This record gives sequence, structure tokens and C-alpha cells, in this order.
Amino acid sequence: MHRGTDFLGTDLAILGGAMSWVSERNLVSAISNAGGFGVIACGAMTPELLDREIAETKARTSKPFGVNLITMHPQLSDLIGVCATHGVGHVVLAGGLPPGGAIEAIKGNGAKLIAFAPALALAKKLIRSGADALVIEGMEAGGHIGPVSTSVLAQEILPEVAHDVPVFVAGGIGRGEAIAAYLEMGAVGVQLGTRFVCATESIAHPNFKRAFIRASARDAIPSVQIDPRLPVIPVRALKNREMENFAAKQREVAQKLDDGAIEMAEAQLQIEHYWAGALRRAVIDGDVESGSVMAGQSVGMVKKEEPVADILAELVDEAAAALGSRG
Ligand SMILES: Cc1cc2nc3c(=O)[nH]c(=O)nc-3n(C[C@H](O)[C@H](O)[C@H](O)COP(=O)(O)O)c2cc1C
Repeated sequence: MHRGTDFLGTDLAILGGAMSWVSERNLVSAISNAGGFGVIACGAMTPELLDREIAETKARTSKPFGVNLITMHPQLSDLIGVCATHGVGHVVLAGGLPPGGAIEAIKGNGAKLIAFAPALALAKKLIRSGADALVIEGMEAGGHIGPVSTSVLAQEILPEVAHDVPVFVAGGIGRGEAIAAYLEMGAVGVQLGTRFVCATESIAHPNFKRAFIRASARDAIPSVQIDPRLPVIPVRALKNREMENFAAKQREVAQKLDDGAIEMAEAQLQIEHYWAGALRRAVIDGDVESGSVMAGQSVGMVKKEEPVADILAELVDEAAAALGSRG
């Protein structure tokens, strides 16, 4: 993990993937204090809210942590400015190719840029554009997902680019043996989300945590696109009534498109706002029936609520034992 820990400035090259509403000051600082790398999920926050969240996180840890920004946020450049003011060392850009100027602005402020690469061609393009590190995330993950599995992405992308920039693997990692395997394939580290949701330090509602502890891998299913004219990025979440609500929401937005009331960009933004609201209802209010319980397939390996330090220690022990047994 040395290339990964050098890049992050941590003891462990394990990122706590940004999760909207969940990855806030408490969980992020707990992950960083335990030797991992916490990442604040900016999501739809305003620059003022992000400013406060970073300040509160800094008050809880002196260790490095990052901030995840969504490229389609209308105030992206202001958010980049907030990160610079706080001297945030690593900015993670999610949600598609960064708009012109964003990469230069982040790097010009002295931060390292981590970008999501959903395919080999995009990985190469992001490196050419200046990305300092990549996350490759497979469709086993919780939240918004691409179409390809982690194991295939790792085989396609790691041999081609892992010598050029640090690559972190995400999606479906629940145990240390999997971490060991991806390190052997050339990754410098990993990113986990689902495993951290039930951390004692996570503010997720008890109902949300209970749903995770009860669920098995097959309960974490991707959302379905209802209307071929409205491409929506699938979201992996636990099966519940909300999945039907999302179908109705898609029909409503598709109708507005048909009527010419909105354009495609606005339609997609409305879908994203829908998700942010649905996730908030589940994470914060505990409504796990009509809210979205975003979860990856590794949810089946979440067995209890436990401190972040214990989760990380277990993962490291399993990875070390796996590597040790290779002789
Ligand atoms: C509840 C939840 C919310 C998430 N929200 C975001 C987000 O706001 N931005 C983002 O880049 N990724 C988000 N993710 C993805 C995680 O950052 C991480 O990459 C993913 O969880 C890794 O896969 P795993 O769930 O299999 O560990 C979310 C995941 C979950 C489970």
C-alpha cells in the first residue's frame, strides 16, 4: 500500500468513499483518525454548508481527509474555492467528466485531483487531462453505478495505467482478502462505502443501519430505466417501495420532456435532486420504505454496528493474512 499511503498521507490506503448525508464530519474524521482516508460528500451542499462541514471536520481530526464534489453542481467553481481556502489536500471529482477549467483550478490551488474512471479510454483521458489518481468503481457498489463489474474494470484498467498514476479500486469490497487481491493486481489501495455505513460513528438513522444489517447481497438491486427517452444513471439500493416511487418520478419527468416544458439537462438534474431527497429521507429521517436505502452488494457482509477502527483493523488483518499465506 506504500504508493497509496504516500499519495494520501495516511497509514492505510483505504478511502472511506463519499456517501451523501452519511459522509459528514463525524464519519469522515473517524475514518481519518483511525488511519484511513475520510472523504466528505459535498453532494448538493451550498458553498456555505461545505465551508462549515470542512471546518467542523478539521476540528475533529488533524489527519488528512478529502472532499468529493459532483461535476454537475451548478456552483462547482465556488466549491473548489472553498476547498482551496481550507487547504484541502485531495479533491475527488465524481459524476462524469469534469467541465473545462475545473481540473486546472483544483490543481492550481495545490490540491491533488482524484477522478472516477468508468472505462479504460476515460482513464487515459483523465490522466492526460491531469488527474493525479483514479478510482475505478464497479457496478457492485452502492449509490450511482456504471454498467461494468469491479473485477472486469480491474483487469481492463490496472495493467494499462497502474504504472502511471495511483489507482484505487471500489465496489463490492467487504473483506480484506479482496483488498489483497486488488493490491496484487496493481492497485495502490481501495475505496469502501457500504462497509462504513454501520460504523458507530456514522450518523445514519438506526432504521437505515438495521436495514443494512438485515440485508443480503441480493437485496441490493439497481434501479430500472422506465422510459428509453430519459437515460438515468442506475442507482443500487435495497429493494423497497421507493423503487416504485422512482418509476413514477421517471414517468413524470419524461412527460415534462415530451411537453417541451424542460430540456434534457434539467430533466437529469431533477432526477438527481429526487435521489438526494430520497436518500436523505432514509439516512436522516429513518424512512427506509419510501426513502432510498442506497447500498452495495457487500451489504451482506455488514453484520453489526462497530467502531471504524475495528472495521479497518479487521480488513487489514484479513488482507495481511491473505498476503502472508501466499508465502
Ligand atoms: C449510501 C451511499 C451513498 C453514496 N453517495 C455517493 C456520493 O454522494 N458521491 C459519490 O461519489 N459516491 C457515492 N457513493 C459511492 C461510494 O463513495 C463508494 O464509492 C461505494 O460505496 C463503494 O462501493 P461499496 O459500496 O461496494 O463499498 C455512495 C454509496 C452509498 C452506499
